[in-house]
Amino acid sequence: MGQIKFITDFDDQFYLSKRIFVRVDFNVKVKDNAVSEDYRIRSAIPTIEYLVKRGAKVILASHLDRPSGKDLRYSLRPVSKKLGEMLSSFNAGVTFSDDCIGKDTIDLINGLKNGDVLLLENLRFYSEEEKNDPVFSEKLANYADIYVNDAFSTSHRKHSSTYGTAKYFDTRIAGFNLTQELQYLSVLRENPSIPFTLVIGGVKIKDKIGALNHLLPKANKVLIGGAASYTFLKAKGYSVGDSLIEENYLPWATKALGDHSDKIILPIDHKVATSDNSSQYHIVEADIPKNMKGFDIGDKTIQKFSFEIHNNGLGTIFWNGPMGYFEKEIFSNGTKSVAVSMALAYWRGVKTLIGGGDTLEAMKISGVSEKEVTHVSTGGGATLRFLAGDEMPGIDILRN
Ligand code: 3PG
Repeated sequence: MGQIKFITDFDDQFYLSKRIFVRVDFNVKVKDNAVSEDYRIRSAIPTIEYLVKRGAKVILASHLDRPSGKDLRYSLRPVSKKLGEMLSSFNAGVTFSDDCIGKDTIDLINGLKNGDVLLLENLRFYSEEEKNDPVFSEKLANYADIYVNDAFSTSHRKHSSTYGTAKYFDTRIAGFNLTQELQYLSVLRENPSIPFTLVIGGVKIKDKIGALNHLLPKANKVLIGGAASYTFLKAKGYSVGDSLIEENYLPWATKALGDHSDKIILPIDHKVATSDNSSQYHIVEADIPKNMKGFDIGDKTIQKFSFEIHNNGLGTIFWNGPMGYFEKEIFSNGTKSVAVSMALAYWRGVKTLIGGGDTLEAMKISGVSEKEVTHVSTGGGATLRFLAGDEMPGIDILRN
């Protein structure tokens, strides 16, 4: 396998007047026609700026959500507006193409001048994108001279824009976002500084199992909260009432507890209620009564987890998944406390990494800034897949 070429491996002149197809991940939250969470857009700005300043013609391509067909609720137009605001600080603008293929799109591309930026409409308006259809891939590839992947968070997908299109280019390059993700996450996966603490929450063990299998043997401590903890508690013989559990993963949890009993730390108390609509909760220790569901870790667990996260200012912590149903204020304390403890650990010198879907959101509602974390991964599923050592087509294609 060849080496990945990075954007800074080429001299400045190399990009001048070249048409560059940049796969970004602008799959962000959009509410009332406006972007409500822009971390992924910001993470792509360094690559766009770098290319614009070197006189390239930049063609940005992304998906948004999982539309079936051309459904304008999933249009990237609001993203284009947000991007335009961000690019204005270095005097660049962005043009939006209402489609990602077709004559009008080609005309817009042919009209690009050096330093221009064009954002194509949602690639997933065409089912061919997810099918990695060769005809669709070739159409996209015909737009440009150079291919850049700056979308780590979608590099686990073998789609046209992440894989099939790239194959048509002689020059395939990793942008700054992808490069930074690879640097941080490779160290985390292969050689985290110790003591290495894993903080795992959220719902689906299924999505995390590969990463956990790879990281558990390396970790010194593993704190498990959120819905994931009820499966472990049940495997340990506790009653979990009506709490969410994943029956299929009970045998795996039992084995993990047996193999790593000295590392795994489970909640010792819980905030429970009869349903997620409840406006009140009870705190219980050990067993969760019948007809009750766990929605957050309790105060004693918060204290214990916070103590473990402080890590004496040493080593690495990776956090994935909220500690409870944090979207609801009364069940958000566990998640907020973990976020704040992560920030304190960072300020003491611990390398802290956060990744996976809801975790960024959880951090935000806790008032913790991205600057108080060593690295906030843009990836959800991609981060977990990378940490599991799974195939990453969007990255592998850059090596060949
Ligand atoms: C994500 O949000 O994890 C990426 O944008 C990939 O989206 P997908 O899971 O719909 O492929």
